[in-house]
Amino acid sequence: MKKVLIIGSGAREHALAQAFLRSDQVTTVIVAPGNDGMTDAGLKRVTIPATNLLELRDLAISESVDLTFVGNEEPLTLGIVDLFEAAELPIFGPSKVSAQLEGSKSFTKNLLQKYAIPTAKSVTVSTLDSAIDVLQDFGLPIVFKLDGLALGKGVTIITDLTAANAYLTELYMQNPTTKLVIEEYLEGVEFSIFSLVGKNGMIIHAPLAQDHKRRFDQNKGPNTGGMGAYSPVRWLSDEVKNRAIKELVEPTINALKKEGTPFSGVLYTGVMLTQAGPKVIEFNVRFGDPEAQVVLPQYTGDFYELISQLMTGQHPTAHWQINDVYVGVVLAATGYPEAPVKGAIVPTVEAVTPLIINFAGVKNGLANGGRVVTIVGHDTTAILAQKQVYNKISLLETNLEYRHDIAYQAVSHEKTPFFD
Ligand code: AMP
Ligand code: GLY
Repeated sequence: MKKVLIIGSGAREHALAQAFLRSDQVTTVIVAPGNDGMTDAGLKRVTIPATNLLELRDLAISESVDLTFVGNEEPLTLGIVDLFEAAELPIFGPSKVSAQLEGSKSFTKNLLQKYAIPTAKSVTVSTLDSAIDVLQDFGLPIVFKLDGLALGKGVTIITDLTAANAYLTELYMQNPTTKLVIEEYLEGVEFSIFSLVGKNGMIIHAPLAQDHKRRFDQNKGPNTGGMGAYSPVRWLSDEVKNRAIKELVEPTINALKKEGTPFSGVLYTGVMLTQAGPKVIEFNVRFGDPEAQVVLPQYTGDFYELISQLMTGQHPTAHWQINDVYVGVVLAATGYPEAPVKGAIVPTVEAVTPLIINFAGVKNGLANGGRVVTIVGHDTTAILAQKQVYNKISLLETNLEYRHDIAYQAVSHEKTPFFD
């Protein structure tokens, strides 16, 4: 019987733990560090921080872990996979070098440019003067991306020249050598592809998902880590999905192989479907949060089997449900993302059943972080799944806050199908 270690602490890691616990082969899932909300049968927590790589490696050895799955990006960019592999511990994820696909925007932009993979035009600068020069060339709106991990806060989109100048002046006053990627603004429909990439380059694609990054309804307010998601995205055709895979995902995986740093693990491709075709907005090297909470429950096969076959260079067949749409709504603390207030009452598993609840910022039964839980329902249409989740939320006793329009794109396509 198998033991799995999951690294991370959020609702995504909770959904990963549940996906592994559904496997008949898995008896125990250890989550490090996890959170107080994770109380499922078979789930054990060890409170080692996700960035303490040496202690995590020692835990995997002392617990005789069969497979380690990394939920969040930080340990990956710090090189956890290289460390575990040096100790011959099975781990699913990219090496430190290929994790730069998420960790360094300039690394990614250079790779995409070198291999002519469609993405927004961009220039990397590190002085105020060169930033201002580029500003003239790109037009408005304009996109600024800080290099390095930014936890969803590194991207600024500005629509007028005065504000753009003010942003740059402020930025370079704080640090005169800031590395900044300046990018053309892409107009279009945004969606995410999650690809599980095996050791031999075998790729399994999960159903498409759409995230809702802005804090408030109708995409108003600041960017967040994600306020809700749904999957599959039925109104995007197979043709669109396959084109994005052929033109963006596969060429990137091939490019990393050619560079001598083959990618393995979860590749998250953020796609903008523009009038000129699909273009890469960003890559991440792990599942999205909250996208994982709506994608993983759709796996009807043995998830442990799938991942271990990918890790050992086999060619597994994947099994995803196709009958339902999954909708996940994040409940967040008041003040998220700027200054989340602690202490709100957190909904219980019992109050939410039969829907799924995945816990994130929870300590001693109370809210202790920005995003606190994700509640996930599913039904035959997005309209029904959305109703189901919001009906349940309306019955909960909590003053956590949430968006009221998650899956609106799918709902509006169901109400007005474009083939009518
Ligand atoms: P990122 O942190 O790279 O995921 O960017 C956050 C969000 O900013 C994305 O989900 C997009 O909605 C938006 N964004 C990033 N780059 C661009 C771009 N070049 N054009 C338009 N929107 C963008
Ligand atoms: N939901 C967006 C992300 O995980 O990066």
